[in-house]
Amino acid sequence: MKTVNGFRCIKCTKEWLLTQAKYVCPSCGNNLDIVYDYSEISKKISRKDLQHNTSYNMWRYQHFYPVDNLCDKPALHIGWTPLYKSSHTSNLYIKDDGRNPSASFKDRASAIALLDAIYKKSPCIIGASTGNAGSSIACLGASVKMPITILVPNSAPQAKLAQLLIFGATVVPIDGNYDQAFDLCQEIAVKNNWYNRNTGYNPYTREGKKSCAFEICEQLNWQVPDWVFVSVGDGNIISGIWKGFYDLYHCKFIDRLPRLVAVQSSQSNAIFQAFTHYNKTKELSVKETRATTLADSISVDIPRDGLAALKAIIDSQGTSVEVSDQEILQEIQGIAKEFAVFAEPAGATSVAGFKKLTAQNMIKENEKCVCVVTGNGLKDVSSALSVVNRPQPIAPDISKIEEYIHRRI
Ligand SMILES: Cc1ncc(COP(=O)(O)O)c(C=O)c1O
Ligand SMILES: [Zn+2]
Repeated sequence: MKTVNGFRCIKCTKEWLLTQAKYVCPSCGNNLDIVYDYSEISKKISRKDLQHNTSYNMWRYQHFYPVDNLCDKPALHIGWTPLYKSSHTSNLYIKDDGRNPSASFKDRASAIALLDAIYKKSPCIIGASTGNAGSSIACLGASVKMPITILVPNSAPQAKLAQLLIFGATVVPIDGNYDQAFDLCQEIAVKNNWYNRNTGYNPYTREGKKSCAFEICEQLNWQVPDWVFVSVGDGNIISGIWKGFYDLYHCKFIDRLPRLVAVQSSQSNAIFQAFTHYNKTKELSVKETRATTLADSISVDIPRDGLAALKAIIDSQGTSVEVSDQEILQEIQGIAKEFAVFAEPAGATSVAGFKKLTAQNMIKENEKCVCVVTGNGLKDVSSALSVVNRPQPIAPDISKIEEYIHRRI
């Protein structure tokens, strides 16, 4: 592709042609980033072109992606999710990414990985997942009849397991955590020469995640937000969103960049710790933690795209904040009340982070903030039920029912 120069290693910065590397840096084994020729992209797409483009989905930004076999794209509607303005808090917006086909942000990444797998004539896609990446590639795979195999912790919420099975993936429930599933997946992928979709290992996933940044800017009529809040597990969503803003900036679609906030549960906070450590020492290093958060999608011991996430925070002059699991759960209800949007715990985490920084006076009143709500609440109803009072059943008797209702209104 004329628009793509090749790969650059996130750690050692060595550059490679697309034919010289597959997933990771051949020299140091770290993650790769795809490097573009922005002058070539600028020849193909402008803000004006977008004004005349009536296909409102992630493919409207096709020239920013490292794939050109768009004829293979799934027919599903991916991206252009709603951006809702708060009615209570001036300048707060949420991006409801639970509205994607498999009900999470991950469909943006799966779409690009799927096209890459088809282009490379892979017979099968394999991935390890906390639940959403798997259900996403299972969904998209089903739409183009691509066989999918997913290793998933047996503890994943039922709805995510149900999605995997309904979409016809080969599901391998692992009696272990996500990190173990991830390592096993790497081994199986190599042995069978299957396409590996693993988040934070496959450089193509980040490229699909950029689309969220493109949409935020276009939906705000190219006014760049001051802050973007993102919940973080492996760190691939935040690094992808940062790349999206960076691409737009270098193609002169926007004239400044936002500050990114990595929001984590205090019970899975490797990136928060790495950023705190960086502030003290200026050393870039992400250490393993022991993740126990109930926000299953961001429960990660070893963030697989940790370094790219850390750089996204630093380069954007952003920050990281940790919130308690209780704050995350409360925010599921907060978002439902304020926006009528149902978020899964990891989806609500970004807004919990916004509330925390606002309470700490880190955000000025006139600053525009976007929180990305990355997954739909129907994926984990037991977490939602834990913050509401579930009424006991009552007898089917009209007077008892009326009395019951009147006591509550
Ligand atoms: C709903 C949801 N939110 C946030 C994340 C975190 O993304 P990342 O692991 O790339 O940091 C995930 C990842 O699985 C997710 O499914
Ligand atoms: Zn390297």
